[in-house]
Amino acid sequence: MRTREFAGTRVGAVGLGCMGMSWAYSASERDDDASVALIRTALDLGVTFLDTAQIYGVGHNETLVGRALAGRRDGVVVATKTGLVATPSDTGQAAIGRDARPETVKRSAEDSLRRLGTDAIDLYYLHRIDPDVPLAESWGALAELVAEGKVRRLGLSEVTVAQAAEAHAIHPVAAVQSELSLWTRDALGAPGGHAGGGADAVAAESEVGDVVGWCAGHGAAFVPFSPLGRGFLTGTVTSADFEATDFRAANPRFQRDALAANLRIVDRVRAVADRHGATPAQVAIAWTLAQGDHVLPIPGTKKERYLRDNAGAADLDLTTADLAELDEVPAATGSRY
Ligand SMILES: NC(=O)c1ccc[n+]([C@@H]2O[C@H](COP(=O)([O-])OP(=O)(O)OC[C@H]3O[C@@H](n4cnc5c(N)ncnc54)[C@H](OP(=O)(O)O)[C@@H]3O)[C@@H](O)[C@H]2O)c1
Repeated sequence: MRTREFAGTRVGAVGLGCMGMSWAYSASERDDDASVALIRTALDLGVTFLDTAQIYGVGHNETLVGRALAGRRDGVVVATKTGLVATPSDTGQAAIGRDARPETVKRSAEDSLRRLGTDAIDLYYLHRIDPDVPLAESWGALAELVAEGKVRRLGLSEVTVAQAAEAHAIHPVAAVQSELSLWTRDALGAPGGHAGGGADAVAAESEVGDVVGWCAGHGAAFVPFSPLGRGFLTGTVTSADFEATDFRAANPRFQRDALAANLRIVDRVRAVADRHGATPAQVAIAWTLAQGDHVLPIPGTKKERYLRDNAGAADLDLTTADLAELDEVPAATGSRY
């Protein structure tokens, strides 16, 4: 697989998001042993940039990654995240809240190190800024973890350019991870149509700014999450018939009428894919790679055939004409959260 630079080392241009192995999509298809084997197959393919978080399955996903990395740690960049916590709610279903107090961040790092079975986390993200804690306090605690040798680099997720700059002035931002895909372009500072902020967005789209460009200018990687539009852009999601616990069951873009309207986007992606003998998934990932050499997408999957498909995107070069065509896909119907 082609490689790209991350913080002075080379990683596979296409990474792996591990979230879905523990959380969010099609729960009935989860299989821990298969997930561990999948991560090891990924490493065999050169997919060496792994993404997890404390909140994914509340420790479960980090444990899976730790199992997969036993004896395979060298040459892998492991990223995890802190700052989101699961709190019990009246409904019995855990609610997700933000907690990025210094003491929580420090404790969470110790737990992540133990679950990952590693001496140091290569890339540690603040998953979300906590509105009740000044960014300088959360980021300062993270910087102390770097000084202590428990963490190698720091990242932010779903932030504005102004927030990234504020953190960078305290300690270098090595990566920003935000949603970026053919149907969610906020991080490019995209005007209007393609953005889609939503209630959970950290900032209105007008405030986000060109985060991808900011990263390029400040030596940071930009890591697109959900580059496949949570599976939609692959063309395999054609009905709104999700398992009750699936994140998409309540997501505006995946409700029946919105989903039907959004299939026009997939038609356009498939047209480009057909010209290259590629899959829509590969085009969706290649489009993110085309946004800059510092971009490291992390498509998520539980299935080996999808893993291999996604890895193949590293070798797909989209033409200027392809990119222009993909810029003209219809705007998504429905907000992203
Ligand atoms: N920082 C954040 O706030 C944040 C938020 C969301 C996600 N993330 C990270 O980003 C990673 C990727 O995002 P994501 O998992 O939300 O969405 P995604 O990568 O856009 O899509 C994942 C979905 O696409 C399906 N899929 C994957 N490859 C496919 C292929 N080649 N053909 C057909 N379907 C395919 C998967 O199915 P199967 O599951 O059946 O394989 C899954 O349902 C996550 O794993 C996580 O690490 C971060």
